[in-house]
Amino acid sequence: MRPRTIVYTGKGGVGKTSVAACTARACAASGLRTLVISTDPAHSLSESLEVELCGEPTAADERLWGQEVNAQEEMERHWSGVQEWLGDLFIERGVDRISAEELTVPPGMDELFSLLRLQAHHDSGEWDAIVVDCAPTGETLRLLSFPDVARWWIEKVFPLERQILAAARPLARSLLDIPLPSQAVFADIQRLSRNLIAMNEILRDREHSTIRLVMNPDKMVIGEAMRTFTYLNLYGYLTDAVVVNRVFPSDVGDYFAGWRRVQEEHLELVRSAFSPVPVLCAPYFDQEVVGPEMLDRLASVLFAEHEPSAVLHGDLTQELVVLEHGAVLRLALPFARKGDISLKKIGLELIVGVDGQRRTIMLPPALAALQPAAATFEDGTLEVRFNGARDGARAAGA
Ligand SMILES: Nc1ncnc2c1ncn2[C@@H]1O[C@H](COP(=O)(O)OP(=O)(O)OP(=O)(O)O)[C@@H](O)[C@H]1O
Ligand SMILES: [Mg+2]
Repeated sequence: MRPRTIVYTGKGGVGKTSVAACTARACAASGLRTLVISTDPAHSLSESLEVELCGEPTAADERLWGQEVNAQEEMERHWSGVQEWLGDLFIERGVDRISAEELTVPPGMDELFSLLRLQAHHDSGEWDAIVVDCAPTGETLRLLSFPDVARWWIEKVFPLERQILAAARPLARSLLDIPLPSQAVFADIQRLSRNLIAMNEILRDREHSTIRLVMNPDKMVIGEAMRTFTYLNLYGYLTDAVVVNRVFPSDVGDYFAGWRRVQEEHLELVRSAFSPVPVLCAPYFDQEVVGPEMLDRLASVLFAEHEPSAVLHGDLTQELVVLEHGAVLRLALPFARKGDISLKKIGLELIVGVDGQRRTIMLPPALAALQPAAATFEDGTLEVRFNGARDGARAAGA
């Protein structure tokens, strides 16, 4: 049986670590052997759980283990061969050693290697549930799209590259002053790419693995979460819940009453933007959420009506197919009946209205130049066709 895997991500400081830690505690309390693992290079899981963790799973409570992956170790394990070769290349080009070392590790790479740990945990059979506390969204997204790139390299580039290199090596060594990567470096990259693909398959197994987006009821934070949601859908990752953390309670007092009203409006936006994905809310507590007692308080509110380890929503809500001259976006609107469809595109925002429901979707930059050309609504699915009109002059319409 594959472990249930729940990945929490969201903008910096919104409460990812607290929510991941409290979910893990709740899963363990429900009888599951649970591992909560932090892949954010700036770990804070130890402080949250009030248990000193390290690079390997450490017992944190009954049926609960925690791990803060050591990115440096993972990097050495997966990347040192490539790093050495790239480093030599940069130094030969006159880059100083320290800069060369930094250049050989693309940004976000450390978290990627940390995530690879998931694979071994999946295969071990030791866990019923794995809860992942990720770095802020930007990084995580890049990582999730990376395996597709890796697959492309494996299928298209490696077979060719190897042959060319074998033929060119003696020539390159004598004529050019570039050290070509050795077969060992290629083997490293290939192994890494295969690991990435395997990890990707784990995360795209929608029966077991889901992503949960954590946010606060603030406009900018919600905007970023909506963009992330679109990307996750497009890459085929299932978002089964969104968590709105730090909502002012109704008895917040006069001083914050204005804030509370604004938060109410923002909560409406969250519900419409992520519908039909369940929205779990937690209040702004009167103290920090640190340690078992506060974590359990957070979990009891968040999961008052849901099983923490359940897949809380089973379908992707958006699908984007990019065609040669345009694109098709499919959107689940299960509660809408047939009605008037209105479409409006402002920059990268697509505002869709069907049967009184309005949805704002953040489109990926690849669609910036395209214009919505037609829309149909059938069997609870809205289909929007985009065409390649590059001047943006053609009117959007249903
Ligand atoms: N509902 C809440 N009420 C009050 N305080 C909270 C709540 N949720 C989280 N906090 C506090 O807010 C701070 C940030 O939370 P947390 O570390 O979980 O966020 P994060 O998203 O993991 O941050 P980072 O992006 O830095 O990793 C912590 O001090 C935590 O105790
Ligand atoms: Mg954190």
